[in-house]
Amino acid sequence: MMSGRPTAELQPTLRDYESRARHILSADRSAYFFGGAADELTLEANQKAFSKIELLPRMLCDVRGGSSRLTLLGQDLASPVLVAPVAYQKLVHPDGEAAMAMGAAAQDTAMVLSAQSSIDAADARAAGASCTWFQLYWAPSREANLELVRGMADLGFTAIVLTVDAPVQGVRDRETRIGFRLPADVSAVNLAHMPVPRFAPLEQTESMLFDRIAHVAPVWSDIEWLCQNSPLPVIVKGIVHPGDARQAIKAGASGIIVSNHGGRILDTVPASITLLPAIVKASAGAVPVLMDGGVRRGTDALKALALGATAVLVGRPAIAGLAVAGAAGVSHVLRLLRDEFEIAMMLTGCRTVQEITPDIIYRPDIT
Ligand SMILES: Cc1cc2nc3c(=O)[nH]c(=O)nc-3n(C[C@H](O)[C@H](O)[C@H](O)COP(=O)(O)O)c2cc1C
Repeated sequence: MMSGRPTAELQPTLRDYESRARHILSADRSAYFFGGAADELTLEANQKAFSKIELLPRMLCDVRGGSSRLTLLGQDLASPVLVAPVAYQKLVHPDGEAAMAMGAAAQDTAMVLSAQSSIDAADARAAGASCTWFQLYWAPSREANLELVRGMADLGFTAIVLTVDAPVQGVRDRETRIGFRLPADVSAVNLAHMPVPRFAPLEQTESMLFDRIAHVAPVWSDIEWLCQNSPLPVIVKGIVHPGDARQAIKAGASGIIVSNHGGRILDTVPASITLLPAIVKASAGAVPVLMDGGVRRGTDALKALALGATAVLVGRPAIAGLAVAGAAGVSHVLRLLRDEFEIAMMLTGCRTVQEITPDIIYRPDIT
């Protein structure tokens, strides 16, 4: 073993990137990016649940000529690990989403640009051709949403990721206690012209949530309308119930992302990987089912694919890469995941992503 330099420097893992990022970022930004809602039970569960799933490899399989490539909604990707939408990336690096897009493009995978991107969507697209999906939070006017989607289609985005699990922000105690606030020079620039919700006057309302916010939150008929009118396929993100997966498909969704928003919205929701099999079953192969939350190792991605996911997304690991080393850090984090994923594929006897089946997941009743 070499001496003198810490091993983490020679071969960092995603967890090393995260601890370095937490150290680099100010305490309030660290709380914003790495914290979760309330007691952070879901945040913790996302990673823990992966460690409870065990792999059962097959030996002596011929994996010559194999690869981790896949085609997803017509896009050719080097691996099934994509970059999840994360807001306000200029808080982490001066080039923000542009550096993230460069890092994702270097690894030939897709990046989802957050609705709350801190740079112009056109600049993010110009920085990295892999920045191909735009994430949308429903705005109070149907037409305004459609206008935004059309604008993104004109910029060359190929899909819309509609996030449905956050009509209101979660109870983010860690962030609130430390006093996190957006600085004046960081904002959701792509939403600058979206209509501001017009609420009933405060004195006429009893509840801020039910009498105001609920009036502008989307419902299933809005999703159906968007799927019918959008020039781009709509992927619904934030599905955790199989019934909602069926409803999203009925509404016209072209894909589903099983996600609890990285444990930032409703605490005590089960881990995404725990929920995945039921949603895969409910979707019955009608649309691709993706998942995110707690993916920190190539074996995590392999487990998700074995349980029926078409691909996975990573949020905080990509942010950690961005904080530590900008585009190069993002690229390195994604490369580490891909290398680990391919090693795990080979060690479990899977030649292609299609060959990754539940057979490699250990069950006590195996015969
Ligand atoms: C700081 C932060 C900001 C996020 N912003 C968004 C967002 O703007 N839109 C969205 O759909 N999801 C957002 N998410 C959720 C991620 O897309 C993703 O679901 C989650 O980070 C996955 O979990 P992971 O961080 O364990 O990989 C955010 C997550 C974090 C940590």
